[in-house]
Amino acid sequence: TDPVDYQAENAAIDQGAVESNHAGFTGTGFVNYDNVAGSSVEWTVNVPAAGTYDVVVRYANGTTTDRPLDFSVNGSISASGVGFGGTGAWPNWTTRTVKVTLAAGVNKIKAVATTANGGPNVDKITL
Ligand code: GCU
Repeated sequence: TDPVDYQAENAAIDQGAVESNHAGFTGTGFVNYDNVAGSSVEWTVNVPAAGTYDVVVRYANGTTTDRPLDFSVNGSISASGVGFGGTGAWPNWTTRTVKVTLAAGVNKIKAVATTANGGPNVDKITL
């Protein structure tokens, strides 16, 4: 099946804001995680079959400090401390792929910041 985009601005955001002040995002904006550990974005996704999926995270980090995220699926940790390093500037977007195991049908994928810097700016996930 074709990849599907899930925009961060349409996800459930805890301690973050939808913004659009840095060019290059897709959809209508991106999520600026609050600069605190525990800030998060949770997407609801739908897949046809159970299995391991490549989740392509489109993000920007205009600092030179890594902003790791923990990924959980349906409440269980799936990938810990995934690094989102500097991209040179806030309007410079790139992707990082995270492998997660999903059940058939609806799943919740949550990406939680693990440091006081919060997460990178996140545009969308694609899977
Ligand atoms: C700047 C930038 C934001 C970013 C923030 C951060 O304020 O404009 O887009 O989210 O830094 O460091 O998290």
